[in-house]
Amino acid sequence: MATRNPAGASDEPEVGGTSSASGSAEPKRRPTGLDTSRPTPARMYDYFLGGKDNFPVDRAAAERVKEATPDTYEIVWENRYFLQRAVRFLAEAGIDQFLDLGTGLPTQGNVHEIVQGVNPDARVVYVDNDPIVLAHGRALLAENARTTVVTADMRDPEGVLAHPDIRELLDFSRPVAVLFVAVMHFIQDAEDPAGIVRTFREVMAPGSYLALSHLTTDGPDPAMVKATEAVYENATSPIIFRPKARIEEMFDGFELVEPGLVRPWEWRPDTDGQVSTNALFGGIARLAG
Ligand SMILES: C[S@@+](CC[C@H](N)C(=O)[O-])C[C@H]1O[C@@H](n2cnc3c(N)ncnc32)[C@H](O)[C@@H]1O
Repeated sequence: MATRNPAGASDEPEVGGTSSASGSAEPKRRPTGLDTSRPTPARMYDYFLGGKDNFPVDRAAAERVKEATPDTYEIVWENRYFLQRAVRFLAEAGIDQFLDLGTGLPTQGNVHEIVQGVNPDARVVYVDNDPIVLAHGRALLAENARTTVVTADMRDPEGVLAHPDIRELLDFSRPVAVLFVAVMHFIQDAEDPAGIVRTFREVMAPGSYLALSHLTTDGPDPAMVKATEAVYENATSPIIFRPKARIEEMFDGFELVEPGLVRPWEWRPDTDGQVSTNALFGGIARLAG
């Protein structure tokens, strides 16, 4: 299980300052071209996880989320542990290609570190629409030829699937795992989240897998949900909590693996312990042959 990074105190993040899976000694530099006038979900999530790749505007918004949702620390870490258990399960099941949509900033226990620990030949493509992820990912992956990071928007699934860097690394005629972990709640109803998954499903070979987690309205106090959604109205992507039934629709055409769509900490837990939040659902599903 990953451990928490210490919270950073600097006002501006630096690129190349994260620990490198490749051992790259790229010098630290400031990312350019980033909008620091509005919070972004990637930088806020980094702050929640204790990272230092965030700006004052992100930290202020993240603090407001923590006020609205006292469970925030548990939510982000239980989601992260779910992601880590999910990709280890998939790698151990023989999946050696991973498309991680809505990757977030590199932290400890990244997907490529886990799956290449199981199978050194496993390939991983990280996709995020926040340019800071590419800036940091490049430094982290400088010498890892089986892993790449792409700036793209999953609301254009055909565009993502046609991206040359993705086509170069992943072979969709063989089973692949497509990860939508804590990202679909940034896709609005009008943007058809289930339709986005369907577009990926249509090119996935039999035996492929889907892993997905999502914030839910089934459980949490409605006032907390409303207050949290209100903070993200000023962010580059609004956030939307959904009922379990709407999250289930995203698994259409796949067969859920046991124990199904559950609270992420109930998905094949590898530790004991009580989790008090109820704000998420997560599951893994297989595309039948
Ligand atoms: C909460 S983080 C989740 C990170 C990681 N998947 C995890 O669960 O630990 C959500 C990420 O999704 C990204 N994201 C949001 N909307 C997106 C979109 N339309 N296309 C690609 N990435 C998106 C954000 O930039 C952010 O980095």
